[in-house]
Amino acid sequence: MHHFSYHGSALHCEDVDLAGVARLYGTPTYVYSATTIADNVTRLQRSFRELDVQVCYAMKANSSLALLRHFANLGTSFDLVSGGEIRRVLAAGSEVKASVFAGVGKSEAEIELALKNEVFSFHVESEPELARINYVAGRLGVKAPIAIRINPNVDAKTHAKITTGKSDNKFGIPLAVAASAYEAASKLPHIRVAGIQMHIGSQLTTIGPFTEAVKKVVPVVAQLQADYGLEYFSIGGGIGIIYEDALASGDQAWWDAFPAAERPITPEAYGAALTPLLKDLGLKIMLEPGRFLVGNAGVMLSRVEYLKRGAQKNFLVIDAAMNDLARPAMYDAYHEVVPLQRDTSRAAMTADIVGPICESGDCFAKDREIQSVGEGELVAFMSAGAYGYTMSSRYNTRGTAAEVLVQGSSFELINARETFEQMIANEKIPAFLA
Ligand code: LLP
Repeated sequence: MHHFSYHGSALHCEDVDLAGVARLYGTPTYVYSATTIADNVTRLQRSFRELDVQVCYAMKANSSLALLRHFANLGTSFDLVSGGEIRRVLAAGSEVKASVFAGVGKSEAEIELALKNEVFSFHVESEPELARINYVAGRLGVKAPIAIRINPNVDAKTHAKITTGKSDNKFGIPLAVAASAYEAASKLPHIRVAGIQMHIGSQLTTIGPFTEAVKKVVPVVAQLQADYGLEYFSIGGGIGIIYEDALASGDQAWWDAFPAAERPITPEAYGAALTPLLKDLGLKIMLEPGRFLVGNAGVMLSRVEYLKRGAQKNFLVIDAAMNDLARPAMYDAYHEVVPLQRDTSRAAMTADIVGPICESGDCFAKDREIQSVGEGELVAFMSAGAYGYTMSSRYNTRGTAAEVLVQGSSFELINARETFEQMIANEKIPAFLA
């Protein structure tokens, strides 16, 4: 469910005409729906209402300051992965006291920043990291709360680059050595054992791997709780979203048309499957969703530069590129592309949708059938709210896109398009070349 739909022939985000947004701020521009995000948070929280649950939004999915403030207002905390992300939460006027700090390569400076801001817990990925956290906490005269990330060795059946719970991934420690790792942690003077964590991958489209992993880890959690008095169990993130039928999935009727057993993953089904497995632990349960909360709440708007009719193929050359939305080039990811002005009287066309960057990988879709559109017309990439803007780069000296937030009939620019001057601001020509 989301709030992008046609009002007549014009694609809207909530009550705002997206063509008007593109006219005001140019393209490419990301547009987010605040109401969709609020609905997603509420649905997830409700789905776990029988448990003491804390939603830690994985802000790597979208770390815009405006969205962070929105999440803080909705009562979520954050799953953080760098000093930069900690500073973003603070810059958004929030705090990290209920947030967790994850990642395999935490530096001393990042650990210190997290401790000084009283982070709720560190999600530890290795023994050397544990030793470093103990050392930094000792230097500051505090005890660092930690959870060790367990790798349950479950196949999440998702893209190889975003699966994390198999034993050949760099993440976490094997289940078999959990007991000894916790024993070692409990002996460190500046460490307080607070919880346990796992995360098996991203964009999971079925519940099976989640229940398999939780079932595998729960007995170990129960034992560790008995031995060390844990406060919480974080089951990570990873709930998948709809990419292929993204626009249609805004409508409840689209979901209702599936027989229950074949319905794509929903937060309700996720909560219903996991609650009975987790209830008896009596622990606080943490969730770390990123994509599910923001993915379907954002689109990327782009303008057609040229329709190039080739001998074999048509190429729709647009003004957005792989530097703006890296997912298709990086993971062969599918994003639905729809016209901002729907015109059912027009014939469909088949084209490769490509950006202006000088490499063949700058391709958003191959042989895609879409309504015929031509120069100057606008399109939207659906399900672009997660891992869109945050993964953008400046390749080909293209500044980062603008971002706009919509709520009802209000909208505001929340991040201006990067200028050429900003792009080169830190560069200089050395004296020996002058
Ligand atoms: N927790 C941990 C420890 C993670 O590593 C991640 C994502 C999450 C939570 C949030 O996962 P989510 O709920 O968003 O699936 N750039 C890729 C996705 C990379 C995910 C990395 N870790 C993409 O565009 O598909």
